[in-house]
Amino acid sequence: MHKLSDNAPAGHPDDGALPRRGLADQPGLAPEQIARLVDRFYAEIRRHPRLGPIFERRLAGQWDSHLARMTQFWESILLQTGTFKGRPVPVHLALADIRPDDYPEWLAVFRPVAREVFGPEAAGAVIERAERIATTLQAFTFLEPTDVRPGDGRSCPDAGASHA
Ligand code: HEM
Repeated sequence: MHKLSDNAPAGHPDDGALPRRGLADQPGLAPEQIARLVDRFYAEIRRHPRLGPIFERRLAGQWDSHLARMTQFWESILLQTGTFKGRPVPVHLALADIRPDDYPEWLAVFRPVAREVFGPEAAGAVIERAERIATTLQAFTFLEPTDVRPGDGRSCPDAGASHA
């Protein structure tokens, strides 16, 4: 499996999916920029030759509500607004057309957009959050059922838990 970042989290696989603390005190990070991140990122990903069609197959005709939902997601992750009530793990598990290598590709689109939208310090923190969540989603999406045995410390009772 691809390594998504050099500082990917070790330990409990849900580490990256749950916000530990918001970044509201981070200079250069405000709701207006989160809205811009979402707009810019999806404009790019929709043009991506491999990932664009995966999104389009699922979201054709529903883009506005997806973008509103993703704005709530990033506000909840970065500013701890608590407005996002979703279950990203089962949602991505249900996308049968995702391959393991798609997560590094997703990050390759995300990083330059985050750098463009946020100041250098805030961009680093935002990208780290995205890398952690991508690592978690990738791990859950491609876990074999036999990889998790009760009591071996690798099963996750929070699988599919809300981010907020
Ligand atoms: C392989 C890369 C990815 C693909 C192809 C992908 C695709 C999608 C699609 C098609 C949906 C809409 C599903 C639906 O409404 O039924 C979705 C939802 C979502 N995605 Fe991704 N995604 C990817 C990676 C990521 C990453 C890395 C993150 C976070 C950093 C993320 C966060 C979310 C969230 C929060 C939702 C909404 C979940 C919910 O409604 O509960 N995705 N994704």
